Amino acid sequence: MKSAIVGCGGISRVHAQVLSDADYTELVACADIRPERARERADKFGGRPYTDYLEMLDREKPDVLHICTPHSLHVPMALEALRRGVNVFMEKPAAISDEQFDQLLAAARESSAKVGVCFQNRFNPTTKAMRRLLAEGDSGQALGARAFVTWKREAPYYTESGWRGSLETEGGSALINQSIHTMDLLVHLLGTPVSVEATASNRHLVGVIETEDTLEACITFEGGARALFYATTAYAEDAPVLVEIVCEGRTIRFEGDELTVRGKDGSRRVETLQNVAAIGKSYWGSGHSACIGSFYASLRGEEEYPIGVEAVEKTMRLVFATYRSAREGRAIAL
Ligand SMILES: NC(=O)c1ccc[n+]([C@@H]2O[C@H](COP(=O)([O-])OP(=O)(O)OC[C@H]3O[C@@H](n4cnc5c(N)ncnc54)[C@H](O)[C@@H]3O)[C@@H](O)[C@H]2O)c1
Repeated sequence: MKSAIVGCGGISRVHAQVLSDADYTELVACADIRPERARERADKFGGRPYTDYLEMLDREKPDVLHICTPHSLHVPMALEALRRGVNVFMEKPAAISDEQFDQLLAAARESSAKVGVCFQNRFNPTTKAMRRLLAEGDSGQALGARAFVTWKREAPYYTESGWRGSLETEGGSALINQSIHTMDLLVHLLGTPVSVEATASNRHLVGVIETEDTLEACITFEGGARALFYATTAYAEDAPVLVEIVCEGRTIRFEGDELTVRGKDGSRRVETLQNVAAIGKSYWGSGHSACIGSFYASLRGEEEYPIGVEAVEKTMRLVFATYRSAREGRAIAL
């Protein structure tokens, strides 16, 4: 197969590394509006550099386009690829608004090409273990949950990017960028969200970003479990993500790669689940190669890629409802 990347910034390095290591595809081209970035990626990982991704699609005719650009460009670029019958593997978020998501959903349903979304944390060993434990009879019904993403992002992270911190190009910050994986895991673990009530604030970057650096939400799921969610980029370091679920029979949680199961009888089992070595920053998790490998296996017809557009709809609708709740100061039903 032939692969191409659009957007040659930070995360593209992880995609390029996975693709150049893989024996199932060849990286044939990289595009970025900054020519030096496209050239650097191509020199290091292979393929030809472009500044215009449409020219790249038309000349190279790749089987898969990896979209690693700013948030607002994900959907327009995916639509162009799908129109040409090119499969799309897109970085999160799948869209920055309900309207964009509707467009993506319609285009994915119409096209013969496939779309995969990069929610790589669903592939983490801790996530798989939590899913397994929740499905066991000993857990019983999930009653409630809490999730914390407390990370550190300072002004240059936003001011030097050209797109972060802007509602038009990023669509939000602490939620839709840094903690969207964790909100997705809550949906992946707890099921269908039915309502959300949230507040968003700017605790340390007033005058620097127009988006939120902190967001808290109370999410109610079908069956009544209530999840308390807190995300901030105003912390002193990138602390390990914590997700805890209280069930009738026991409480299960992960913090980073440490899994803890607390029984009602006072028992406590702690286990560190070995992640395969992460490519890139450790807090991105280690799932990119598993995620990308699974997408390509689905293109070969060997398995179903579990994170297509429809599989992320509940998460994306919840993200947009959370922002709406914060803006309007009221609970939003989903
Ligand atoms: N899955 C993860 O854990 C994870 C981690 C980091 C980033 N991301 C996502 O990856 C995406 C990119 O993030 P990043 O940190 O690499 O950003 P970045 O700013 O480092 O890179 C974006 C690149 O896109 C290029 N670009 C902008 N407009 C373009 C256009 N019209 N055509 C071609 N190239 C264009 C920019 O020049 C830049 O090089 C974001 O959606 C982000 O949320 C995902």
